[in-house]
Amino acid sequence: MPFQLPAEFLNQPTPFYYYDLDLLDQTLSALTAAAKPGNFRVHYALKANSNLLVLERIRRAGLGADCVSGGEVARALEAGFGADDVVFAGVGKSDAEINLALAADIFCFNAESVPELRVLDELARAQGRRARVALRINPNVDAYTHPHITTGLDANKFGISLPDLAGVLEQLEQLPNVELLGLHAHIGSQITELSVFAALSRKLNDLQTWLEDRGYHLPHLNVGGGLGISYEQPDAYPIPDFATYFGLFEQHLQRRPGQQVHVELGRSVVAQCGTLLSRVLYVKESQHTRFAILDAGMTELLRPALYGSHHHIQNLSSQRPGLAYDVVGPICESTDTFGRARLLPETRRHDLLAIRSVGAYGEVMSSSYNLREKAAAVYGSK
Ligand code: LLP
Repeated sequence: MPFQLPAEFLNQPTPFYYYDLDLLDQTLSALTAAAKPGNFRVHYALKANSNLLVLERIRRAGLGADCVSGGEVARALEAGFGADDVVFAGVGKSDAEINLALAADIFCFNAESVPELRVLDELARAQGRRARVALRINPNVDAYTHPHITTGLDANKFGISLPDLAGVLEQLEQLPNVELLGLHAHIGSQITELSVFAALSRKLNDLQTWLEDRGYHLPHLNVGGGLGISYEQPDAYPIPDFATYFGLFEQHLQRRPGQQVHVELGRSVVAQCGTLLSRVLYVKESQHTRFAILDAGMTELLRPALYGSHHHIQNLSSQRPGLAYDVVGPICESTDTFGRARLLPETRRHDLLAIRSVGAYGEVMSSSYNLREKAAAVYGSK
C-alpha cells in the first residue's frame, strides 16, 4: 500500500515529520520475534531517532539503549530505559559525559583506545566505581556500503586495530578500576549484502580463540548494528529482514556457553515508520530541467545532500500523468536536492509530497541552517 497521510494531519503546516507508530510496533514485534528473547540482547541505537514517544515504544518492546553522547544517555534514562540496559559508545567521550554515565552506573562503555581506557580508570576511581567496558575492535571487514558510513576498515578512525590488541590488553591489566566484559565491533551502516555479517562472525571467532589462548574468557560479545532497509521500495519492504540477519549470527558466530550476544540496531528499527511531508512552493521550468521546489530542504533531511542517498518520493495530491522533476529544497546550496529526474504525477504549487524512509537519521540530523525553524513531528496510530 502506498503511503497515505491520516486525514487529521492534512492541514498540518509543512514541512513536518510523520511517524507511523503502528508500523513501528509491527517492526519491533518482527525484531523481537527474530531475536528470540534470551538469544540476542538488542540495544536500539538512539542516534537514529531519539524522539521520546518513539523511545518509549522501543523500551516497552524490551530493547536496551545504545548511546553515543551524554545527551543520549540522559535521554535514554528519561525515556525509562534502566541504566543496566544502557551502553555508551563513541570514539571521543568527554570527561563530563563519562562522569554522567558512571554516576548512572550504566551497563557498559564501548571503549576505543588506551588513552580513553586510562581516563575511564581515573574517573571511575574518583567516583569509587569500576567502569565496565567492551573493547571496540576494528575487524577490518568490508561492509560494502557507502564510504561515508563504513566503519570497520583499517582506514577508519573507529576501534582498536587487531595488531594493537595485545598491547591494549597489557595496558588494561594496569587499570584496576576498569573491568573487561567483552568485545564490540561495528562494521558499517545500511548494509544490504548480509553475508558480511558471516565474515564478521568468523573474525570474532578467531579473535575469541586467540583471547582464550591468553586466558581471557569474555561473557559478552557485541556485534554492532548496520542492517539496511529498502529505500527504493518502502511499500514492498516496510519491515527489514531480521530473521536472515539474526540467522547469520546464529549460524556463524561460535558463542561460548553462557555468553550473551548483543546487537545495536538503529536504522532498521525506525527508518520506515518516518515520512517527511512537504508542499510544493513552485514548479520552475528552466532550459533543460523541470524543478519542483519544496518547502522542505536539507535542513529537514540531510542524507541526500550528504551521501547522495535515495529516498522514495510520492505526490499525495496528484493523479495527473507523470513528468520528470528535479525535486529540490529552498536552501542556498546546490546539494539541497532530494532527487534528480524523478518521475512524479504532474506536480503543481501546493501539492503535498511524501519523502519516505526518513525515520532514521532524518529529524536527528536536522539543522537550523538559513535560520530555519525546526519542523514539527506528529504521530499516528489507529
Ligand atoms: N553501533 C555503532 C557503533 C554505530 O556507529 C552505529 C551507527 C550503530 C550501532 C547503528 O547502526 P545502524 O543499525 O543504524 O546502521 N547518518 C548515516 C548513518 C550513520 C551511522 C553511524 N553509526 C546515514 O544517514 O546513513
